[in-house]
Amino acid sequence: MSDYGIVVHGGAGSLTPSSKSTISLRKRILVQAASVGYESLTKRGSSLDAIVEAIKVLEDSKVFNAGSGSSLTLEGKVTADAALMTGELRCGAIGCASIAKNPISLARQVMDRSDHVFFVGNEGLQKFADATGFRQEPLEPTNERLKQYKKNIRLMKKGAVKTWPKNYRLVKNYLQKNQLSPETSDTVGAVAVDSTSKVSAGVSTGGRWLKLPGRVGDSAVIGAGIYADDFAGAASATGAGEEIIRVCLSKTVCDLMRIGADAQTACEAAIDILTARRGYGTAGVIAVDRFGRFGSARNTEMLQCSFRFRSMRRSVAVVLPSENPPKQIKVSTDLTRLNF
Ligand code: GLY
Repeated sequence: MSDYGIVVHGGAGSLTPSSKSTISLRKRILVQAASVGYESLTKRGSSLDAIVEAIKVLEDSKVFNAGSGSSLTLEGKVTADAALMTGELRCGAIGCASIAKNPISLARQVMDRSDHVFFVGNEGLQKFADATGFRQEPLEPTNERLKQYKKNIRLMKKGAVKTWPKNYRLVKNYLQKNQLSPETSDTVGAVAVDSTSKVSAGVSTGGRWLKLPGRVGDSAVIGAGIYADDFAGAASATGAGEEIIRVCLSKTVCDLMRIGADAQTACEAAIDILTARRGYGTAGVIAVDRFGRFGSARNTEMLQCSFRFRSMRRSVAVVLPSENPPKQIKVSTDLTRLNF
């Protein structure tokens, strides 16, 4: 038997009081994203279209840390990172961008319409968008995020945000005059495998709360936030970007799948490597392998994700630490069946 489908994530992190109060909303959106992605996969047959459509649902939701719901920099601004990649090694990425309501669509434009892979900053992106007719829309913070920003900057002022000790020393003077959210990581991402075993991965984020202006995280970095290779599979990461970059988490997952690990084993082994080197509470990752198997692993309290495969009757969301990913049918791993 073969299987195909999509896995979507809405970030890894801990169960905070605010995430607790929105569990059912988050599940609903994750289910919607996986369903929209799967529908696209079945109708258009492209794993790339599927991950883009799914990520757009999450970016538009205002609930996750991406698109309209992005977290804010130290200066209270939105600067988004996003990237996508196909199993043929086509890729596009953007960093520190605030000119697209759907950053994943701008990353796709980079892949489809330029010979480059990675653009950073609005200046060049605006010119690129003008030249290619990409519709620019400023990415403004929501009222909810502005409220969170005020609270977080108050906490940072008190020295209660432990995440950024070096940054804190750098900006202490700024903080005395102005005001910074403790860590939540609701980055969004998706991986998909189509019926011909072609894979794609994508990711989109506002980045970490209170990041310094100019900071780019793993989500824009091919190999760290995402990777895809038809000879292996596709992976999308979430969590502390600085840690994910250090171990090239998504490429590590794909390398393990390339040498024969199934998606689940590869996710677990890559997270073990990260945990051993950089500690718990650093990341989560989702993956599909070229045989149509899916996987997910985390060293955080929770990894919000949803799954929709042909072998399932409906999309299944997994958010709470006690919830387990759905079981998958046993798929054929006959290499001669694959259509490279
Ligand atoms: N993983 C998202 C970030 O660190 O920016």
